[in-house]
Amino acid sequence: MKLTLLVENNPKIESFYKLNLFTWLGLETSCVKSGALALEHLTSHSDSVNLIIVRCRIGKEEAAQVIIDFLKLKSLEIPVIVIGPGEVPDVTCVANSLDLKLLIKKAAVALNITAKDMSNKVVADYFPIPIGYFNSIKRSVCSVYIQDTQMPQLYNLKIDKLKDFDANLISGLIQEGVNCLYVDKMDRLDFVNNVTSELISDLKAEEISEDELITAVDKSVELLSKKLLTIGITEETIALSKKNIAIITANARKSTKLSKLLDRLLSNKTSYLYKHTQILTYVGIHIVHNIDWGNADQEEKISFIAFFHDIVLENDLQCQISSMNELKKSKLSEAEKTLVEKHAQLAAEYVAKFPHAPMGSDQIIRQHHGQLHGLGFSDHYGANISPMAMVFIVAEEFTKIILKQESGKMNREEMLRELREEFTTSRFLKIVDKLETLIL
Ligand SMILES: [Fe+2]
Ligand SMILES: [Fe+2]
Repeated sequence: MKLTLLVENNPKIESFYKLNLFTWLGLETSCVKSGALALEHLTSHSDSVNLIIVRCRIGKEEAAQVIIDFLKLKSLEIPVIVIGPGEVPDVTCVANSLDLKLLIKKAAVALNITAKDMSNKVVADYFPIPIGYFNSIKRSVCSVYIQDTQMPQLYNLKIDKLKDFDANLISGLIQEGVNCLYVDKMDRLDFVNNVTSELISDLKAEEISEDELITAVDKSVELLSKKLLTIGITEETIALSKKNIAIITANARKSTKLSKLLDRLLSNKTSYLYKHTQILTYVGIHIVHNIDWGNADQEEKISFIAFFHDIVLENDLQCQISSMNELKKSKLSEAEKTLVEKHAQLAAEYVAKFPHAPMGSDQIIRQHHGQLHGLGFSDHYGANISPMAMVFIVAEEFTKIILKQESGKMNREEMLRELREEFTTSRFLKIVDKLETLIL
C-alpha cells in the first residue's frame, strides 16, 4: 500500500493530520520532520509515496522548495501540497495549516478520490483509533471498545461515553501491548473531530501563525461550549476559558483597525459566533476605555462578559437571532428555540459559578437581551439597567451592524445613524458617541 509522506515538525499537527487523513480519505501516513529527511526517504522509497504534504518552511529550511526541486531533478511525479503561509508557484497550497477541510479536499483532488469513492468505501463496524490519541482527551464523546484477545470478532466496552477516564488506564493498556481502541463506525467522525479540536486547542500561540491562531481559538471556543454542557465549570473549563479570553483580548488590543481585524476573521472563515465575540470585545474595550468611569478592571470585565454571554449557543444560526420575532420565524427545532430563549440565563448560571468572575458579570449577561430574568428578548431597557450593561448592549448592536455588512468600506456615519435610531435616550446616546473615535 502506498503511503502519504507528511513533512511536519510539530507533533500535535502531525498527530491530527494523520488521524484526519486516515479517517476521511483512508490514507496511511509516514512522517518526517524536515525537508532533508524527506529527501532521504524519497531517495529509497519514492515508489511507495502517493502524495507529499509539506510545511512550506520548517525552521530555517525552505522545506517545500527543497522537495519540489528534488522531484524535478529526479523527474518524479508525486503530487505535493504545501502547508502554511508562503506561496510556491504552480503547487497546491493550504495557507492556514488548521484549515483541515481544505487540506482534505486538496488531498482528495490530488489522489483522484471522489466523494462517491468515499461514501462507497466499506468501513468495518468498529473503527480503529491508535491508542496514543486517548492521551489527548480526558473523556470520549462516544463509547470506546477494546478487541477481545480470545475472540477477535468481539469488541468489549472499555470506556463509557462522556465519563472521565484515568490516564493510567491508557498507559496500562499500552504496556499490555494494545495498539488500538475502537469506536462504533457511526461515531467515528464525532470522535475524530473532538480529538482534533482538543489537539488544536492545545496549540500554543508561538507554535502557529496569527491566522492559524484565529482558527485555533474558534475551534477552542466551540470545544469549551460543548464541555460546559457536559462537565460545567471545572478546573479544565476554567483554564480553557481563561486561555481563550486572554487571546481574544490580546487580538482586540493589538488590532489597530477594526477593518483589519474583520478581514482576518473573514479570510480565515471563522464562525459567526467567534467573529461576533471577537469584534464585540474590540468595540466593548474601546467604549470602556473612552468612558469617564472606565479603567483596566472594567475593560477586563467587558472582555469577560463578551466571551461568556452567548457561550451556550451551539451554532451560527442560533447566534444571529436577536428578537422574539426572529426566534419564532426561525427554522430552528423546538429544543434549539428553547436554548436560544434561555441562553442568557444559562450563561449567567455558568458565570455565577466561575471563581473570581468580575463582579456583577453574571447579572449583565442575564440582562444582555434586555430581560431581567435572562429569558427571551426585549427592545425596552429599564431605567435601572447598569452603565456596563448599557455599554454591552450598544457594543453588541454595533457588532451586529458591522457583521451585517461584512465586507466593503465601513461608513461610520451610516452605522452610527442606525444605532441612534435604535437607542434614543440620552444615557444610551452618550455611549454611542464614544464610537465616533473608534478606528475603522
Ligand atoms: Fe451576542
Ligand atoms: Fe445573546
